[in-house]
Amino acid sequence: MKRAKEETASQDLSRQPEGLMTLRTQAMPKDANPNGDIFGGWVMCQMDIGGGLLAMEVAGGRVVTVTVDQMAFVRPVRVGDIICVYGSVMRIGNSSLDIKLEVWARDPIEEFESQRHLVTEAVFRYVAIDKKRRPRRIPDHPQYPRE
Ligand SMILES: CC(C)(COP(=O)(O)OP(=O)(O)OC[C@H]1O[C@@H](n2cnc3c(N)ncnc32)[C@H](O)[C@@H]1OP(=O)(O)O)[C@@H](O)C(=O)NCCC(=O)NCCS
Repeated sequence: MKRAKEETASQDLSRQPEGLMTLRTQAMPKDANPNGDIFGGWVMCQMDIGGGLLAMEVAGGRVVTVTVDQMAFVRPVRVGDIICVYGSVMRIGNSSLDIKLEVWARDPIEEFESQRHLVTEAVFRYVAIDKKRRPRRIPDHPQYPRE
């Protein structure tokens, strides 16, 4: 419980995840360095998978990642933590869409759901493409108006 107490004391418990949970998984030893710290690249990969799923649904088909805005890792992820990726559609252009992604983590044994902490957040831009890999127009979506 030491970690939970230390980290809970320094985090803003009023902030909760925003958006739709698009991915939930557990950080495994293969995703960590010898000290048990999870690689940032693994976390980014989970964001891209979770964001890509949401983008694909909204765009009604195949998408590719084109940019990621600035991101900082504000808390660590450790082996065994459960991480959840939450996504919100920020903007729909002609063929591109921006999805804000947040990653929240917690120790499944030592920490309650309310003690999960924000690890990182970023806006990923996806582009809808056709079978020839050319950008295609994203169909109108009742839930997400075009910019
Ligand atoms: C994404 C890709 C299809 C865009 O092709 P393109 O010829 O540049 O297409 P366009 O210039 O017509 O741009 C298409 C859309 O992408 C956006 N876009 C393209 N490059 C961008 C960039 N560098 N930054 C931000 N947006 C970009 C454009 O603004 C446009 O958005 P809109 O249609 O909503 O107005 C092409 O760059 C590509 O295939 N990139 C590789 C993507 C990939 O494989 N990702 C995984 C890497 S492992």
